[in-house]
Amino acid sequence: MLRIFLALLLLLGLQRTDASHWSYPDRDLDEVFPSWGGICDTGTLQSPIDLSITKSLKGVFDELKLDNFEDKQSGVTVVNNGHSIQLANFNNEMEVEGGPLRDEYVVEQVHLHWWSEHTINNVRYPLEAHIVSRNKRYANVTMASNFKDGLTVIAVLYHVSNERNEAIDQIVDYLDDVKDFDKINEPVRMKNPFVVRQLFPKLNGYMTYSGSLTTPSCAEAVTWIVLSETFPVTLEQVDNFKQIQNEEKITLKNNYRDLQKANNRPVIVVLPLDKSVSDAASPLQLSMGTLFFMLIAAKLL
Ligand SMILES: *[C@@H]1O[C@H](CO)[C@@H](O)[C@H](O)[C@H]1NC(C)=O
Ligand SMILES: [Zn+2]
Repeated sequence: MLRIFLALLLLLGLQRTDASHWSYPDRDLDEVFPSWGGICDTGTLQSPIDLSITKSLKGVFDELKLDNFEDKQSGVTVVNNGHSIQLANFNNEMEVEGGPLRDEYVVEQVHLHWWSEHTINNVRYPLEAHIVSRNKRYANVTMASNFKDGLTVIAVLYHVSNERNEAIDQIVDYLDDVKDFDKINEPVRMKNPFVVRQLFPKLNGYMTYSGSLTTPSCAEAVTWIVLSETFPVTLEQVDNFKQIQNEEKITLKNNYRDLQKANNRPVIVVLPLDKSVSDAASPLQLSMGTLFFMLIAAKLL
């Protein structure tokens, strides 16, 4: 009896202290979003948030520069970390600088959320990629997450299309190898080179704000750069990610965090310098168009 009691105590203790055991709710069952603890619950600069053109401030910055994103990266690894599918181990260093950033950042990893974490004008997208970069001032991501300027994440949103996304397909090809719970944290090397630039469309403006990691520790260390132009993906492609298992052997149907309070944070919208027409959809430009139309209509009436 005492032994069982002690075992139970130990189990409870482990659950309390092991911060790696956090999860997403099953949205099909209307489960409430779990409390992740710490700054995730108490922070005031949390992410994701809804991005709205009518609540944004216009900004003009130096050009946002993405260096070596076109490089063919060989030996890139794909891993199921129990919460997402992540790419890492880039052999050619990629850098992000300019735009709202004061320093140079180096790309550490890329991972995906199905469905999107950020919404634009309250519209959710089927998939969101996060390209996570570390300020070179800090030795590693753990160190960087202690500082407000420690990290920058470029977020790419994908819209539903009949057109398969080739870059996403290159990741889907490895899902069977990593999806089962007993493969968690076992990286698989990609056989073909991977070009990170192929994950997103033409740089056509972005929205930027100060926020947090959207997974525990939820560190408030992130300059978010959400590209305003979205890229196509099929729902069938996204469904492949919903087969991923977490540590509890439960399929990860969705891995997006609930929207967080904006707390009157400035969201800065940076419009593209080059206004040439493009095939991809830009919710930002659409809403700007709608806004202007409404303003004109309001003047006329
Ligand atoms: C990160 O860098 C700090 C300072 O150099 C070091 O103490 C720490 O062990 C590093 N952490 C990881 C996870 O590499
Ligand atoms: Zn993420």
